[in-house]
Amino acid sequence: MAAPKLVLRDITMIYPARRGQAITAIDRLSLQVQEREIVSIVGPSGCGKSTLLRLVAGLIRPTSGEILLDGRRVEGPGADRGMVFQSYTLFPWLTVQGNVEFGLRIRGVGAEERREIARRYIELVGLVGFEHAYPKELSGGMMQRVAIARVLANDPEVLLMDEPFGALDAQTRSLMQELLLQVWEKTRKTILFVTHDIDEAIFLGDRVYVMTARPGRIKEEIPVSLPRPRTLEVTTAEPFMAIKRRVLSLIREEIGKQS
Ligand SMILES: Nc1ncnc2c1ncn2[C@@H]1O[C@H](COP(=O)(O)OP(=O)(O)O)[C@@H](O)[C@H]1O
Ligand SMILES: [Mg+2]
Repeated sequence: MAAPKLVLRDITMIYPARRGQAITAIDRLSLQVQEREIVSIVGPSGCGKSTLLRLVAGLIRPTSGEILLDGRRVEGPGADRGMVFQSYTLFPWLTVQGNVEFGLRIRGVGAEERREIARRYIELVGLVGFEHAYPKELSGGMMQRVAIARVLANDPEVLLMDEPFGALDAQTRSLMQELLLQVWEKTRKTILFVTHDIDEAIFLGDRVYVMTARPGRIKEEIPVSLPRPRTLEVTTAEPFMAIKRRVLSLIREEIGKQS
């Protein structure tokens, strides 16, 4: 098999004590993501999922262990990793197009080329006709479409998604999951997707890593051998249900330990 795209090796993250005690958020966690794979990470609230993504994004440094992207050690933030957060992070003073072009502008890409690239990704996420709208005029789902188009426009090596649909209502959320899979079919980007939603993790992922309660470790890795392209119908069929039962029982064990 080809060398993995992303490697996390023996990662420990201890947040230093502020007032009380230092917090070990992640404890000797290892995982790998192959090129073009969608890997989901699921675990109870507070288990270190966001910490894990912030580490890969280079926003914080691990206490020990190493993170490799395409064989190179992650030392800080970089355009090779694009992050999509749960909270809406669009620039309110820029239009949809301005937001999608933002990273390209920073990197000095010319106006003509910027417009062309933005047009492509705006179309990919289904926002043609909204190029000149401002974020406050958009629904939550539409804002997250822009956020996805904005990171894709930078052509990152890996997409890091931290509960990107967590603030949306259930129906919009399902639609956005399908949209993300359609986008993936066309771009084949490597995606590391963090969620506490078991259905979402399985529906999207080629594999699901289940984390333990804090300190976060990998409790189990579960392959999701459901055929692609997937639509929401797969979530009601028995193979999906069987995986869901397994993940649910693992998460239950972890939540049981917390309380
Ligand atoms: N900046 C920080 N300083 C200290 N502790 C933190 C910080 N960020 C997160 N934590 C703690 O680390 C643990 C994991 O947090 P987080 O990664 O946000 O979990 P999750 O995303 O799975 O809910 C939690 O106990 C949280 O309180
Ligand atoms: Mg989180």
